[in-house]
Amino acid sequence: MSEEKKITPAESGKDFDRRAFFVKLGLGSLSIAAAGTAAFSYQFLSPNVLYEPSPIINAGKPGDYEVNSVTLDVNAAIYLIHAPEGFFAMSAVCTHLGCITAWKPELGIIACPCHGSKFYVFEAKKTPGEKIEGPAPRPLPWLQTWISDEGDLMVDRSITIRPMQFVRV
Ligand code: FES
Repeated sequence: MSEEKKITPAESGKDFDRRAFFVKLGLGSLSIAAAGTAAFSYQFLSPNVLYEPSPIINAGKPGDYEVNSVTLDVNAAIYLIHAPEGFFAMSAVCTHLGCITAWKPELGIIACPCHGSKFYVFEAKKTPGEKIEGPAPRPLPWLQTWISDEGDLMVDRSITIRPMQFVRV
């Protein structure tokens, strides 16, 4: 009678393969868990803020604006106006529902394309920005304007001022 020798898993090398497989599986799981924890920690610790563009606009040199000119900066949504009394800036955002208004040189007024509000600019005895007609509840606000140390016209869109405060150069 022949005696068959039983081969143990350790002898066959299968046990080693299984152990190595489970070690790798465990390490892989730990790596994925660590990566997930790191991602969530970073997200949690990062400030949850919305970065907005600066409200301050450099409108360039005063000499670039002729007297009695109205210049619309669509991106900044402001008018830079060179009146005979000096410079000033007004918001171009309609006070009705926030449409961007437009300068109408042929009429000498600012008009809103959305619902027809109209605003004075150079009318005698009228404050620039004052409403002529339409649903806008308030005039177009004047914005803080000054000359920088470099001689540039600067406008802060976040600060409204009382009208008729001209910047003289
Ligand atoms: S948004 Fe300008 S009139 Fe309505």
